[in-house]
Amino acid sequence: MVDFHRQKVIAGNWKMHKTIQESVDYIKDLTPLVKNASCQVLLAVPFTCLKSVADQAKNTNLIIGTQNINDHDHGAYTGEISARMVKDAGAEFTILGHSERRTLFHETNAFINAKVKKALGLGLKAIVCVGENLQAHKAGKTEEILKKDLEESLDELTTDQMKNVIIAYEPIWAVGTNQPATPQIAQQTIAFCRQIAAKKWGQEIAKSLVLQYGGSVSPENAKEFLDQEDIDGLLVGGASLSAESFSKIVNCQTV
Ligand code: PGA
Repeated sequence: MVDFHRQKVIAGNWKMHKTIQESVDYIKDLTPLVKNASCQVLLAVPFTCLKSVADQAKNTNLIIGTQNINDHDHGAYTGEISARMVKDAGAEFTILGHSERRTLFHETNAFINAKVKKALGLGLKAIVCVGENLQAHKAGKTEEILKKDLEESLDELTTDQMKNVIIAYEPIWAVGTNQPATPQIAQQTIAFCRQIAAKKWGQEIAKSLVLQYGGSVSPENAKEFLDQEDIDGLLVGGASLSAESFSKIVNCQTV
């Protein structure tokens, strides 16, 4: 199982895009483009193509996961998918607490926390997203909100469990808007998240924790973010939908 210990981790989030055929074709296109990547390359794909994508990605350096799970193993939860099911279909990680889940589907920190525990308990890694909305950003409440979201969505996790967690800072005002945060704001905010982690789990965990930036990342701006001291990776939405643009982001530090 892959170890994320303070490596660069570039994750693509396809959201609700791609049929099975489209996703398999994408993996065929992407594989040769990123085979020499110096970072970890992750793709969070829709449930319907998970098995096909995971099969296609076998024996490559691509790590496949999902964009959500439910907090139960099984039961009467119509329309939901469990960690057991996605693991069985080939997922190694899941995104949790994405801002679209929080805002459009009203997910709370408590629910996200239950899902994080479930994912980790079943051996999936978790990318846990936090980020403030525009109103909070303008009101200077970013740190207050991030502290609360981090403390609550990662509540009761042990230091050992934290080794399998990536935190993605995704300011809501930057997601899908073509208006990324500046690398300086992203660095400053991510350094703050690392401080919160240090207070909660100690310096050693905080130092090795992978912290990503997400929100309108593109081949043009990716390197500037990755060059920041505390930014260990990127969570990429729109620009991950084409194998070509995603590969440019993955390879931006080596070319
Ligand atoms: P975006 O999405 O790159 O399209 O802004 C990022 C995300 O939602 O993870």
